[in-house]
Amino acid sequence: MSATIASEATLSSVLHASLGGSPPRIVAARGNYLRTEDGVDILDASGGAAVSCIGHGHPRVIQAIKDQLDAVEYCFSPWFTTAAYERLAKFLTDSTGGVMQKVFVCSSGAEAVEAALKMARQYFMELAEPQPQRTRFIARDRSYHGNTLGSLSVSGHKARRTIYEPMLSQNMTHVSPCFAYRGMKADETDEQYVARLAQELEDEFQRVGSDTVCGFVAETVAGLTLGGVPPVPGYLKAMKAVCDKHGALFILDEVFAGMGRTGTLHAWEQEGVVPHLQTIAKGLGAGYQAVGALLVSKQVVDVLSKGTKAFVHFQTYHGHPLACAAAYEVQQVIKDEGLIENCREMGAYLGELLKERLGSHKHVGDIRGRGLVWGVSIDHSSARYCRGARANECLQIEIVKDRQTKQPFPVTDKIAPTIHATGLRKEFAISLIPGGGVADGTHGDLIVLAPAYNVTKMDVELIVGRAAKAIEHVLGGQRDAKL
Ligand SMILES: Cc1ncc(COP(=O)(O)O)c(C=O)c1O
Repeated sequence: MSATIASEATLSSVLHASLGGSPPRIVAARGNYLRTEDGVDILDASGGAAVSCIGHGHPRVIQAIKDQLDAVEYCFSPWFTTAAYERLAKFLTDSTGGVMQKVFVCSSGAEAVEAALKMARQYFMELAEPQPQRTRFIARDRSYHGNTLGSLSVSGHKARRTIYEPMLSQNMTHVSPCFAYRGMKADETDEQYVARLAQELEDEFQRVGSDTVCGFVAETVAGLTLGGVPPVPGYLKAMKAVCDKHGALFILDEVFAGMGRTGTLHAWEQEGVVPHLQTIAKGLGAGYQAVGALLVSKQVVDVLSKGTKAFVHFQTYHGHPLACAAAYEVQQVIKDEGLIENCREMGAYLGELLKERLGSHKHVGDIRGRGLVWGVSIDHSSARYCRGARANECLQIEIVKDRQTKQPFPVTDKIAPTIHATGLRKEFAISLIPGGGVADGTHGDLIVLAPAYNVTKMDVELIVGRAAKAIEHVLGGQRDAKL
């Protein structure tokens, strides 16, 4: 069941995701809908890859881009600045209450991660007593930080790494993610689970040489590879404490979770931690421009200010005025239209409806999320429970007797990709994000919903109805008799 049309493959010069066909062609995008050339209006419940957070075709952002084009379409940021770059950077530093002091704007999440890795290394080279032996990073298994070689090196997603493994940096190692559904023991409390993960990080520092590590990299809310997994309370604080003990930087990748998606502008605001370096992207520009950014804390800025005073990194398109103008206007729309509040409210409603509609499905193992990102994890043999996150954000589903299984479908069954392709068919007309490898990096299927922050209750009902139909079409409608 493929969303691609084989006959068009030979006509297209595009290197599509599949060489075997072309995906549906989109001719218009408005609000929550993408219109195909066949006239089908696809309900965009995924915002692409969790990007289009204010919907499509917002007139204010389009106007802001046009105005910027009329003023300055491009200049080279190492030599010049623009009002657009200054305004966006000021907005971002202000939004952190000044704890993040400088902003480097780039064109994608992976580029922001690359910049963070380089900035971390430079920080240690510019300390009053430099620490050149610090060349390593510790990140997490099944994480995703991008597809460039540096960002993929730090990513722990096995399936995305495998064929490039020999080309990836050997200086990146991985510890377990905070993933209560699969990682927490049945008799463990949140505190014990957090303590075990902190010990694992401590052990990894010791194993690689604690004074060789530049930083620990984690997604604040694990995104598309684990499916909207909020951390167990206290987890990020505990991880930061381990970093502080060893003088390493605490780096949060909020490319996915940041800019409102999880119910606060910065996902770390809900965790009582402040990162030394932070990356953002998807919700920053909402898809109106290709844009990401690195936010740099005062501690790091202070060291560079006393050192070379120059970040040894630049790109032809960094600080691009069109990207900055679009991102700034997106953020004003989010503020003026109260969209983060709506994200929290509609997120809770989305979670509620998903639980009602799919919570007892035989193959739905877990439904989890925060704000407007929800993941439905699909297991061959499922055991339903959800622990470790706050009750209103993570659906608390009863523990069943045979919970030891949680066996995923084999990756060869292509369950999530088939649900995705089914959703795109005319009779379902919904765009969902398929995820894989959630169980062990290879097996384990996920469907992620990440609609725009301005969805209404009616939109949410439509999303859940269509998503459930697509899922049930592929998996059948069986309920778990034990529930
Ligand atoms: C947490 C996280 N970091 C980095 C990236 C890479 O972003 P991009 O695809 O814009 O390079 C992603 C993309 O999904 C992501 O979810």
